[in-house]
Amino acid sequence: MDFDPRLIRRVAICGYESEMNVVMHGGDGTLSIEVDEQKLVLEIIDDGPGIEDIELAMQAGYSTANDDHREMGFGAGMGLPNMKKNSDHIQIESPKNQGTAVRMVFFIPEKGKTN
Ligand SMILES: Nc1ncnc2c1ncn2[C@@H]1O[C@H](COP(=O)(O)OP(=O)(O)O)[C@@H](O)[C@H]1O
Ligand SMILES: [Mg+2]
Repeated sequence: MDFDPRLIRRVAICGYESEMNVVMHGGDGTLSIEVDEQKLVLEIIDDGPGIEDIELAMQAGYSTANDDHREMGFGAGMGLPNMKKNSDHIQIESPKNQGTAVRMVFFIPEKGKTN
């Protein structure tokens, strides 16, 4: 679709981090992406235990990853901060016992402009 590689990279980082979170911390999930003229919207929804304190979860270095995750090199607590950094807008919804929905927006820069 002729997107700027830098935009694709940011979307890929956010997709990867959110997939890993569903696998490690969430439940069954779906990932979808919606594209229009102005923006890409990436949405990841899972039916896991949810996030009790979203503000805390967003802090760099905070992680509830277990020893198995850490042994494999995960659990640095940088996924959500990276998703915030690499998206133009992030919204997380996690009502008690109703899973987690993460929605990120990426604006498509005009040709020749950086993002
Ligand atoms: N989909 C999810 N379901 C439940 N908890 C989550 C989910 N995504 C993130 N979390 C919580 O937020 C914390 C921080 O996530 P993140 O910044 O990606 O770090 P990490 O994955 O390395 O633990 C996780 O340790 C977990 O407690
Ligand atoms: Mg993570």
